[in-house]
Amino acid sequence: MTDNSLITLAIEAMQNSYSPYSGYKVGAALLTEDGKVYKGCNIENVAFGPTVCAERVAFLKALSEGERNFTKIAVVGGKNGEIKGAFPPCGVCRQVMREFCNDNFEILIVKGNNKYDTVLLKDLLPLSFKPEILDIK
Ligand code: THU
Repeated sequence: MTDNSLITLAIEAMQNSYSPYSGYKVGAALLTEDGKVYKGCNIENVAFGPTVCAERVAFLKALSEGERNFTKIAVVGGKNGEIKGAFPPCGVCRQVMREFCNDNFEILIVKGNNKYDTVLLKDLLPLSFKPEILDIK
């Protein structure tokens, strides 16, 4: 799976966005270590609080199917689905990623026009609160 193929799947996922309140469509495509892809889009709610980001939808779909090992995620977003700049993962999504992914998990942040940045989770969430910190495992 090339980066560009994963980004194409994230753009595909964005089409299913349910975002009547913000108008921002977001899509994510999460790649597992054995090459499977789980897609997600943002799903908003009239009460705002229950809104779920595209990245978390992708992760929760994969996790609920038993997946635990991930290599990278592509993320794309923009007003009415027009990709005009980076749409980086929010803090809550970064923390969810940290639960299951190591320092070198890659986040492909699409900027538009076939341009994207590859950022490592350790740089997206430095000095993170991670499972290894708790003395319970
Ligand atoms: N959103 C995501 O899907 N992912 C993020 O990481 C940032 C925000 C969504 C939530 C909301 O539906 C819309 O983008 C505007 O905040």
